Amino acid sequence: MSTIDPLITAEEIAQATAQLGARISRDYDGKDLLLLSVLKGSVVFLADIMRQITIPYAIDFMAVSSYGNSRTSSGAVKINLDLKQDIGGRHVLIIEDIVDSGLTLSYLMGLLKGRAPASLEVCALLNKRSRNEIQLEPKYQGFDLPDAFVVGYGLDYAEQYRGLPYIGDLRGV
Ligand code: IMP
Ligand code: MG
Repeated sequence: MSTIDPLITAEEIAQATAQLGARISRDYDGKDLLLLSVLKGSVVFLADIMRQITIPYAIDFMAVSSYGNSRTSSGAVKINLDLKQDIGGRHVLIIEDIVDSGLTLSYLMGLLKGRAPASLEVCALLNKRSRNEIQLEPKYQGFDLPDAFVVGYGLDYAEQYRGLPYIGDLRGV
């Protein structure tokens, strides 16, 4: 595997997760918070943000498929793993690795809103705003990205590179 230059360094990610964790801890103090991680790309971000949130919370997972092994959006969203617990009346915070077209997230949010949570917000580490086809400003966001295909820190290309401790641009590899 060739080396990939960092676009966002491990230090910058650590700083962002600390700031996001502090904000979330303030905003959800006293509330029944459920961190909902969208598999698989967000697991590394989830693990880090969990250790920066200082209030009680529960975690759960959903899996959706969007891209397969291609670098472009198919627009089709399939739920591969759903929640087993009721989210009615709970404060749900979706933990996402990256928002690209926004199609995956907007589909997921529509589905979850139908289950009547007390609140539903998004915490995304990365957002390719210039590529959003659906306007959804995550309440919590780490970095705005240029139009690039990135890997590392949980993000993959055909299941590769998830273990890189930083975010790198796949171009030039
Ligand atoms: P969207 O529906 O176009 O917003 O796509 C969102 C999903 O596509 C993300 O949760 C990722 O799984 C994947 N994805 C989008 N852009 C990238 C990227 O640059 N690197 C790796 N995965 C990506
Ligand atoms: Mg994802």
